[in-house]
Amino acid sequence: MTVERLQRLQERAVRDGLDCIALVPGANLLYLTGLSFHLSERPVLAFFPVDAPPAILLPALEMPKLETALCALDPFPYTDEEGPALAFHQASVTLELAEARIGVEGLRMRLMEARYLERYAPGCELVPADDLLSDLRACKDAREVAQMRRAVEVVEAALRATLDQVEVGMTEREVAGLLTVEILHAGGEGLPFEPIVVAGPNAASPHARPSDRPIRAGETIVIDCGAVVGGYASDITRTVVLGGLPGEMERVYEVVREANAAGRRKAGPGVPAEAVDQAAREVIEAAGYGEFFVHRTGHGLGLEVHEPPYIVAGNPEPLRPGMTFTVEPGIYLPGQGGVRIEDDVLITPTGAESLTTFPRDLIIL
Ligand code: CO
Ligand code: CO
Repeated sequence: MTVERLQRLQERAVRDGLDCIALVPGANLLYLTGLSFHLSERPVLAFFPVDAPPAILLPALEMPKLETALCALDPFPYTDEEGPALAFHQASVTLELAEARIGVEGLRMRLMEARYLERYAPGCELVPADDLLSDLRACKDAREVAQMRRAVEVVEAALRATLDQVEVGMTEREVAGLLTVEILHAGGEGLPFEPIVVAGPNAASPHARPSDRPIRAGETIVIDCGAVVGGYASDITRTVVLGGLPGEMERVYEVVREANAAGRRKAGPGVPAEAVDQAAREVIEAAGYGEFFVHRTGHGLGLEVHEPPYIVAGNPEPLRPGMTFTVEPGIYLPGQGGVRIEDDVLITPTGAESLTTFPRDLIIL
């Protein structure tokens, strides 16, 4: 598996005229090597030359991790006392990085790593390779899809268990805490992001944070949460209510539900990503709420919780079998509340499948 991934990386790097790809800790490094580190003040940088085996510069204390790597990496370790300068120099000389065109992650590499490279690989050119790297990971294989299915199952079980416990008067933060515990309890290795539980006026902001405000009856409660399984993320949203909903919000709920369904119906192989956004948006615009749908319809999902393909106007990229992304239209009425329904969708050879199975009918607790 890893050999195949490394080959694809090298082929594309050659095609783009690169001599080497250099990766910091994150999804790309995990995908290619099975290694996960966190980005800290101690630099970790893996090198994938187009014509030589991979190598990695890392703190000496992290050396044991290399035994779990899916491929062999030549190590350039450094101790805390030494610092990384000599290791950068040695890696640069061994891998002939001076004057090289090095593909890097423009969205992740920090000025620290860039400056070390420019200093110890004189004349090197750092080239953003984000598109190449995300395209490498865009179509999930059967093993990856299985992990994502499991990540969805876990978060759905956790959401179900949490909804059983929600009562009027609990604060948003209390419910978010319950949800966090239930996600780990249901088998999540971790959370791809802190759960969003927002109610009433607070739900009118798509990325509001849970507050200490007690939840009241009749308010929409937007719950956006995910789980990580095998490194892969799920990301789902349901909107629920305690008691009943006032008239307009009930209508808003139905519009969002129809927009979500229209987006999922549109998705399929060969369909431009932006057409899915358009299908969902048209429903909301036709109902007169266009100005209150303030974000794109969705984002790719995988080892990262936001990755290509972005389901947004202006992205003509055709969807391909194995791509996984969210469909998450929402309507946000300032001062009143919000509704969002988010599913995780897989493109199949013949259409699209929702990995999310949680009911989309309004849930009245
Ligand atoms: Co979400
Ligand atoms: Co999302």
